[in-house]
Amino acid sequence: MKFFIDTANIEEIKEINNLGVLSGVTTNPSLVAKEGVDFHERLREITSIVKGSVSAEVVSTTAEEMIPEGKELAAIAPNITVKVPITAEGLKAVHAFSEAGIKTNVTLIFSANQALLAARAGATYVSPFVGRLDDIGRDGIGLIAQISKLFKLHDLDTQIIAASVRHTIHLTQAAENGAHIATIPYKVFNQALQHPLTDKGLSNFLADWEKYKNH
Ligand code: E4P
Repeated sequence: MKFFIDTANIEEIKEINNLGVLSGVTTNPSLVAKEGVDFHERLREITSIVKGSVSAEVVSTTAEEMIPEGKELAAIAPNITVKVPITAEGLKAVHAFSEAGIKTNVTLIFSANQALLAARAGATYVSPFVGRLDDIGRDGIGLIAQISKLFKLHDLDTQIIAASVRHTIHLTQAAENGAHIATIPYKVFNQALQHPLTDKGLSNFLADWEKYKNH
């Protein structure tokens, strides 16, 4: 499973990219609005730092408008992936992007059927929202497992991005259940990296070395 970061914050992207584990970035209109920056300018900055897929979401709601909007986003950099919501109009747009060789990430996936439809329309990625399903008492990770099984069974090469990841247990379970990618918030990267026994062990090693080094 690969790691994407789910943010439009440039400092967070730089810091995690420097760890050497980052394969891409996902943004959404809420994340961009939080930053209060020019969207296209921010995409230029992000794509100059991260070479992998950078998802940029369309905000129009008809295929007729989504297609030129997505093409404009895709023209910003070769690694832009156009993010499209799973609606009837979104599917039409995804099909058109696929025909034009533009990569897509179909977002706001909450059911296996939505994922199957997106894959058949030619989506490069689907993003099932694990945390938001858990929030309403449904099984977010169960959906990842179901989509993974169905894509294998039907030879669909659309990749699964586990999205709306809230904590490190989601991360491990997404990997166990067949997600190709997890897009995770900055704080979950740090939580995943840390363990109290690592800190304690390192501190003991260094203390022992300090006592020994001038023996
Ligand atoms: C996915 O691409 C979305 O940006 C994101 O994961 C949504 O997560 P949230 O439910 O924490 O807003």
